Amino acid sequence: MSKTANPDWREATRLVHAGDSPDARLGAAARGVNPAVQRASTVLLPDAASLYSSDMRSYGRTGLGVQASLEAAICELEHGSGAAVFSSGAAAITAALMAVLSAGDEVLVSAGVYAPTRRFCNGILKRFGVVTRYFSPRATADEVMALASPNTRAVMLESPASLTFEFQDIPAICAAARARGIVSLIDNTWGASVLFKPLDAGIDLSIQALTKYASGGSDVFMGSVATRDPVHGAAVREIMQDTGWAVSPDDCYTVLRSLRTLPLRMARHGASALQVAQWLEQQPEVAQVLCPALPGSPDHEIWKRDYSGLNGLFGVVLKSGSVKAASAFLDGLSLFGLGFSWGGFESLAVLGDPQVRNPGRGWSASGALMRLHIGLEDPHDLIADLRTGLDAFAAACEEP
Ligand SMILES: Cc1ncc(COP(=O)(O)O)c(C=O)c1O
Repeated sequence: MSKTANPDWREATRLVHAGDSPDARLGAAARGVNPAVQRASTVLLPDAASLYSSDMRSYGRTGLGVQASLEAAICELEHGSGAAVFSSGAAAITAALMAVLSAGDEVLVSAGVYAPTRRFCNGILKRFGVVTRYFSPRATADEVMALASPNTRAVMLESPASLTFEFQDIPAICAAARARGIVSLIDNTWGASVLFKPLDAGIDLSIQALTKYASGGSDVFMGSVATRDPVHGAAVREIMQDTGWAVSPDDCYTVLRSLRTLPLRMARHGASALQVAQWLEQQPEVAQVLCPALPGSPDHEIWKRDYSGLNGLFGVVLKSGSVKAASAFLDGLSLFGLGFSWGGFESLAVLGDPQVRNPGRGWSASGALMRLHIGLEDPHDLIADLRTGLDAFAAACEEP
């Protein structure tokens, strides 16, 4: 019996043991605490009858033991009936959309989705005959459903929105979608399924870029799709099989190892982020801090209702929109790296404006939008670094 069978354990305990499976080579009484990494394209089957059995793990591309262990662990984390892993978060998003959409369908998509998701909808989905309609990242369930037509097959959410951090009323939107027979999907990379469990909230397909918090090491790409309904699970596996989007066993091992410490890391990211966000709110150069844990945030109530905590990623709007001053802020940082990812152990900063200042996005703040990822460093040092950056920003604002 898998150790994960005990439903009374709390999440941290379950994640330490999730995906645990016996290793036959160690004998019945012993097992490695970690799964064996089988680097194999070829699988030797026991007999002729097995060659064409419906077992998907008869060829290495769809995953062997360690992939299965990771998928079982993700399933546990997500409270799903099934989970599949893909070679990146972007691959998981596109696979999930392809699993539920066909030519002639329409899909409703939050305007706040990760930019490559929007590109996939506007490019590949359009070429294959699927129409995308966008809604505002703070649209209500009624506003979203007002865009639906008889051809609407799916609604794709991302909460909070990439870079601008608006939160959506997910339970209300997926209940309204379900009532109309519309399938709901979410990119839940921010919630990482420790802070928020989409399937419990009524979502049909829960997607994560495991590249971010699940991995936590900034050294691997991976994505997952977890499902409640086995019909959706089978559709996602079919996409995996038919597109050939394989995941390496070594990468699965790396992510599974990191998953054990996810709750612990997340608690530290969240506590440090709150400390830094509260400090930033008091700084004269800061117009707004886009962090839902701050009581003044427009998303505070939804976040408090739906999320169990905070991670390390939030936004800051500075008081000037000058590109020169924004660059001075970023170039003035030394502990924060300048980089587009997040969820790893390290603190990062990027300027968001080039990605969000387009008509479809509805972002109109006059100051520069920064996205900060608060890593596992001591927040005292991060605050000192931010102060140096803000001093450089203030000096650049004064220059003619
Ligand atoms: C919200 C979100 N979803 C998905 C992805 C894609 O993940 P990956 O880089 O693994 O494709 C990212 C990457 O930044 C992201 O921020």
